[in-house]
Amino acid sequence: MKTTAAVAFEKEQPLVMTELDLDEPRPGEVRVKMVASGVCHTDAIVRDQWYPTPLPAVLGHEGAGIVDAVGEGVTKVAVGDHVLLSFAHCGECANCSSGKPGYCVNFFGDNFGGRRADGSSSLSHEGTQISSHFFGQSSFSQYANVPLNSVVKVPKSAPLEILAPLGCGIQTGAGAVLNSLAPEAGSSIAIFGAGAVGLSALLAAVIANCTTIIAVDVHDSRLALAKELGATHTLNASKVNVIEEIQKITGGGANYALETTGVPQVFTDMTMCLGVKGHAVVVGAAAMGTNANFDIGSLLPMGISVTFVVEGDSVPSKFVPQLVDLYERGLFPFDRLVKSYPFADINKAFDDSAAGITLKPVVIF
Ligand SMILES: NC(=O)c1ccc[n+]([C@@H]2O[C@H](COP(=O)([O-])OP(=O)(O)OC[C@H]3O[C@@H](n4cnc5c(N)ncnc54)[C@H](O)[C@@H]3O)[C@@H](O)[C@H]2O)c1
Ligand SMILES: [Zn+2]
Ligand SMILES: [Zn+2]
Repeated sequence: MKTTAAVAFEKEQPLVMTELDLDEPRPGEVRVKMVASGVCHTDAIVRDQWYPTPLPAVLGHEGAGIVDAVGEGVTKVAVGDHVLLSFAHCGECANCSSGKPGYCVNFFGDNFGGRRADGSSSLSHEGTQISSHFFGQSSFSQYANVPLNSVVKVPKSAPLEILAPLGCGIQTGAGAVLNSLAPEAGSSIAIFGAGAVGLSALLAAVIANCTTIIAVDVHDSRLALAKELGATHTLNASKVNVIEEIQKITGGGANYALETTGVPQVFTDMTMCLGVKGHAVVVGAAAMGTNANFDIGSLLPMGISVTFVVEGDSVPSKFVPQLVDLYERGLFPFDRLVKSYPFADINKAFDDSAAGITLKPVVIF
């Protein structure tokens, strides 16, 4: 069938709306009619080829839509079901089997390879293969064939236009706090970067009853929103000495920290903001080969730990419905981060995100 998709033909260039051919869903796949898709910073860095998904490609990995057809053997969902889409994982390796699908041994190939596991792509243009199955979905397309492991069924009452970004950015931030750090009530946390991921983390820190929540960014507007969403302190890293300030606020260093900027110096500073036995998580992405410094002399006696985390250590089929539930109860108001764009304006959504105008763009089909 035909599908209109936003295609990344060339590195660092705008996506081009193109009519493509979509093959039939394979056994274990469903065809999803997309209703909305979030735009994540990771889409931009793959368009720019920090990660080597072969171009041309259809990106997009925060899809939300309605099941339009099911492949052979699919019983978990049926035509008409409402679904959110999340990252791909094989479901069978040792890490998937032990509840750690973000560390699936096939993660890189399945999410960034641009092909199904059998090497085929579901999309083509005038006979030329176009990379599909980006994060199992390539959601910047009216229709997509998606493996069942990437599909999370949600109630039909759930607003897909708002919930779309749960599948990556929002679950990454929230999961980094609730799953990876699991802070105790009354603890302190410093969150570096008040973007979509950082602010989702901040909302999760509120849920976890952290009583000192420090948001760090370089944009005052983002820090103002952080304050509204529950930050007890905000620091503009371009104006103050963040290490000194956090040491002062927490009386000797934060219990927990989260790095969402991907900036090496921020990573280094974050390690110096932790208290004894502090725990930090890194989710910010950087180009391959990016290095940062550790002050081994100062840090060793602190006994800190730093964990690199994929997708908030979440099991989407379990965690995404929990976040939907929290949202519906008014306890996780991440819709404050979302701004909608018509699908046709997808490049504006990317530009507004890069310019810091929009926190979490969602394109509507
Ligand atoms: N690990 C994962 O599984 C995973 C999943 C999703 C996204 N990501 C990555 O997470 C990162 C954050 O995504 P996002 O959508 O929130 O991006 P974003 O661009 O909205 O947020 C980053 C924030 O960092 C701030 N920042 C930049 N430099 C800073 C500095 N020196 N000090 C303090 N703040 C600074 C920016 O102003 C911005 O608000 C991206 O790198 C993205 O690729 C990782
Ligand atoms: Zn696996
Ligand atoms: Zn993402």
